[in-house]
Amino acid sequence: MDIARTPATPDGNPEMADAAIQPKAPPEIRREDYKPFPWLVPTIRLTFDLALDKTRVTARLEIERNPAAEAERTIRLNGDGLQLESLSCDGNESTDYRMDGDDLLVTLPGERHSLEIVTVIDPSANSQLMGLYASGGMLCTQCEAEGFRRITFFPDRPDVLSTYTVRMSGPKALFPVLLCNGNRTDQGEEGDTHWAKWHDPWPKPSYLFALVAGDLVARSDSFTTINGRKVELNVYVRDGDLGRTEHAMESLKRSMRWDEEVFGREYDLDLFNIVAVSDFNMGAMENKGLNIFNTKYVLADPETATDGDYDGIEGVIGHEYFHNWSGNRVTCRDWFQLSLKEGFTVLRDQLFSAQMGSAPVKRIEDVRVLRGVQFPEDSGPLAHPIRPDSYREISNFYTATVYNKGAEVIRMMRTMAGEEAFRRGTDLYFERHDGEAATCEDFVRAMEDGADLDLAQFRLWYSQAGTPKVAARLTHEGQTATLTLTQTVPATPGQPDKQPMPIPLSLALFDRESGNHAGDELVVLDSETAQFSFDGFATRPVLSINRGFSAPVSIDRDVPRDELVFLAARDDDPFARYEAMQELMTGYLVGSVSGELDDAERDAARGDIAQAMRAVIEDSALDDLMRGELMVMPSQAYIAEQMLIADPGSIHAAREALKADVATRLADPLHALYERAVQVPFALDAEAKGARKVKTLALSYAAAGDPATASGLAAQQYDRADNMTDRQGALMVLAGLDSAERTGRLLDFYNRYQGNALVIDKWFALQASSLHPHAIEHVKSLREHEDFALRNPNRVRSLYMAFASNPGAFHSADGEGYRMLADLILELDPINAQTAARFVPALGRWRRIEEGRAELMREALQRIAEAPKLSRDTYEQVTRSLG
Ligand code: BES
Ligand code: ZN
Repeated sequence: MDIARTPATPDGNPEMADAAIQPKAPPEIRREDYKPFPWLVPTIRLTFDLALDKTRVTARLEIERNPAAEAERTIRLNGDGLQLESLSCDGNESTDYRMDGDDLLVTLPGERHSLEIVTVIDPSANSQLMGLYASGGMLCTQCEAEGFRRITFFPDRPDVLSTYTVRMSGPKALFPVLLCNGNRTDQGEEGDTHWAKWHDPWPKPSYLFALVAGDLVARSDSFTTINGRKVELNVYVRDGDLGRTEHAMESLKRSMRWDEEVFGREYDLDLFNIVAVSDFNMGAMENKGLNIFNTKYVLADPETATDGDYDGIEGVIGHEYFHNWSGNRVTCRDWFQLSLKEGFTVLRDQLFSAQMGSAPVKRIEDVRVLRGVQFPEDSGPLAHPIRPDSYREISNFYTATVYNKGAEVIRMMRTMAGEEAFRRGTDLYFERHDGEAATCEDFVRAMEDGADLDLAQFRLWYSQAGTPKVAARLTHEGQTATLTLTQTVPATPGQPDKQPMPIPLSLALFDRESGNHAGDELVVLDSETAQFSFDGFATRPVLSINRGFSAPVSIDRDVPRDELVFLAARDDDPFARYEAMQELMTGYLVGSVSGELDDAERDAARGDIAQAMRAVIEDSALDDLMRGELMVMPSQAYIAEQMLIADPGSIHAAREALKADVATRLADPLHALYERAVQVPFALDAEAKGARKVKTLALSYAAAGDPATASGLAAQQYDRADNMTDRQGALMVLAGLDSAERTGRLLDFYNRYQGNALVIDKWFALQASSLHPHAIEHVKSLREHEDFALRNPNRVRSLYMAFASNPGAFHSADGEGYRMLADLILELDPINAQTAARFVPALGRWRRIEEGRAELMREALQRIAEAPKLSRDTYEQVTRSLG
């Protein structure tokens, strides 16, 4: 065999070569170009000689031709910045290979071969946090989506499934704990070094590979599966954090039980490990048998974690655990199918959390995220279907659309089929595709066959982007109410024309007098327009529609305000009741910002809002968690979304003014609510959580109406707090006020929790998201704070995500906020491209913003685009945003 060595670059440094030769536009990968990989890699054996700055990786691949693919003489092994130390094929060092960019192409004459590849990597220099990297003295991995190619040369695509056997060794003192996927089969030591062997019996794609080495301690427990198998459970953290792992462990056990009971899914290994790391690009990762988590989604105790943090941990632990079936046992054929695992698993974690706590409140929270993040994405330059058609960098497609709209699409199938039939569909899906790399189409077909649905037209939900708009008009004549529904699906980039989609809408018609209705109906609007008639109404009924948010659409119903007031007080569907409150407030805010309402109309509308809010505050049948939801004002993002062109400044001002107006009109009931809630002692149950929620809400209303009094109350709440929810809530209110109490409490908070990274993150975020008129200056000086760290994604997000969603600061009319964000993106891009690119969408909505700011946002994007060297991640997001 010929030796055909092509050095990566003249100076041997592939990273540098990349910069020099990388074309300005990275190639576009298209879904329609999918081809099965010509080779199978049934087994891989990996050997890691671990060190923080120099880890040697030996990979032994057994490969054979894929009978289901077109034969090829070469195998493409993906690499990313890798140094090849040696390569041999069937024991022969002189193998025919060449580099193609970062990839290694090896020519293979026969049907089956074994390849041995040795690479050397430097985890301590890995600031991208993809592949093998160092975090606080430990080593860990993140391989999804394309990080495994930063560890060794491999067909790094999810349709290549292999059985992994791993030997890892390293200095005992530095890395007393050595973990990998599957089960540990052996271990030993030689002097200062020790080693462990791991075997994962379940074939998996490379993105599910994981390895951890570090000085860790574990909370251990066990779970006995429905068939009586005992599974060892560990939550690994750094010494000192053990006291904050109980909730994570309890959440894990609840997840395991729930998946057995609700989806019939049993765990399939004898061991399940979770490891918490403090430098992590995402929330958590479902690696087989070895989930790796951002510390934010593991560590909690009442002193340092809020109620929201507790819920977040339960949800994310559930989510990653549920991937063991929806993602791992059945994985994705290619990354265009990402929603197959993510959309489905988000639905599963939503249903789990709903059952663990208040289902209506959970539903409202989920819809709030969808509307606040996904709707804007779907109406902007980054809009894409839940199954995208093309990408340049797959990391950019872990979006609210793929995740949250993806979950809504599967939820609609469940709504149309009913719970039992839906379960037959998921059972069939898991049975049919176990051990396979499947597609969204496979899922839909299993649903059709198992749940007996016709989803022919429904498939449009996978291919069309854009949030459908449904106009609902109700007329009444004689005994009959007639509902006319009309849908439009807006044009999105690359998709100018849309077809009507099936939209399942749950509705009820209320009798105004009795306040009752004859039951929920599910209608499916599957044409552009349709009429539905309902008999037996002597008087015009009140329409409640999209109950439970049965479809991810925006409803335009032309209802008089008094009907909204009625629904806000009487609707028995909690989501619909919330919706009526939101509509009441949104209608007023949009109307007053756009100048559609005159003074008298505005005053009348504010009166109605206050009346509805008073009813909510005083309704003794409501629990406080739900009361809190009903009291929340629509977000800035959601209001802006209702307007063709938004002026962030006016929306912000109008929203704050409405808050102040409500607070002034309802000063007494708000105060009474606060005083009642203060009496409830700390506990982690729904009642006490509800009390904490309304307490801080009442306080933030008060802060808008009567800042001086609110400041005193907030300071008192801060000083007396015996839990983080109360303390953070009080500090959030204080941070927005220009009061004497503010500075002292902020300083106290910092001193009290110095050294606790997750709490210091809150300290950064609170100030960056505050209503304080100088918030933008605070962000500037926090950027220079000694605790700010560009290399820690949690810290960067806590400052800049909070800032980018703070309309009063970020949308400063002189464009300073946009310049600051562009500076951050440019500075962060070479360090951590994935995290940098996630800030771009905040600048991307310029076409929907008033022209002065729009131009300044565009300039900021343009400046990023002109940078001499950009990552694929940021390049793609910026060019799409500029449109
Ligand atoms: N598989 C993802 C983690 C991931 C995302 C890895 C993107 C690589 C790139 C994981 O299952 C996930 O979705 N995590 C979410 C949290 C979840 C509760 C939605 C996350 O990390 O934000
Ligand atoms: Zn996921």
